[in-house]
Amino acid sequence: MTDRVFVDADGELLFIPQAGRLQLLTELGRVEIAPGQIALIPRGVKFRALLPDGEARGYVAENHGALFRLPDLGPIGANGLANPRDFETPAAWFEDRDEPTEVVQKYLGSLWTTTLDHSPLDVVAWHGNLAPWRYDLSRFNTINTVSFDHPDPSIFTVLTSPSDVPGRANADFVIFPPRWMVAEGTFRPPWFHRNVMSEAMGLITGAYDAKAEGFAPGGLSLHNLMSGHGPDLASWEGASNADLKPHKIEGTMAFMVETCWPYRPTRFALERAQPDYDAAWKGFPKAKLP
Ligand SMILES: [Fe+2]
Repeated sequence: MTDRVFVDADGELLFIPQAGRLQLLTELGRVEIAPGQIALIPRGVKFRALLPDGEARGYVAENHGALFRLPDLGPIGANGLANPRDFETPAAWFEDRDEPTEVVQKYLGSLWTTTLDHSPLDVVAWHGNLAPWRYDLSRFNTINTVSFDHPDPSIFTVLTSPSDVPGRANADFVIFPPRWMVAEGTFRPPWFHRNVMSEAMGLITGAYDAKAEGFAPGGLSLHNLMSGHGPDLASWEGASNADLKPHKIEGTMAFMVETCWPYRPTRFALERAQPDYDAAWKGFPKAKLP
């Protein structure tokens, strides 16, 4: 992308790298991220993406709704989850390049292009409160039960894009980071459920505690709203028979982009989807009543 820039007029872009670093040169400064970090490019900000490692892989969430912001903390109080101090905004940076530069703009779902005779990344200074940022997911202050039960994953919300209906977000970005599990008298993984939110889930590294196999880093699972789902057979058996001592889930980072809207997979995605995904729930024995 050395002679091109991109700008999204439809929404803001949340970058979630999974392998390889990204260098995002924006009108408002440079943002470098590696797997384990995320970055946000505001709607309408031009940028160029460079790959310091030669290649990179990851996820992007395009948010058409209210801007992503930190969730209200409610009874948690003043601090916790993602703290404002950990969001890094770049200092101004510019390039003075009088060379043909293609501008690709996403607008109304289509891509449009024009070529300028100079690089538009030529802003020498700026001030304002809508800017790119990056955030290190290891800075997330994770909160979980210290007594019993599996809380709603909304306690792991990093960012939210609210809708008009409280509790039913246009989009939530949620992470499942390394954390202690200490709940007593509890089936600790997520239970079987269906709900009003569509859940797109990705895995940056490690394993997710509700999927023993079949969910590799870089993969994406999708449970659209009102689709029943839950742990696979191996995870269910393991958690059902586990000795509930304090246990630390380590070396993992999964995430979810939840939305109140249905996701409509592209033909490209559907043609590459796992054909026997439902097999993860085959072979469950009938529960023995006491
Ligand atoms: Fe779910």
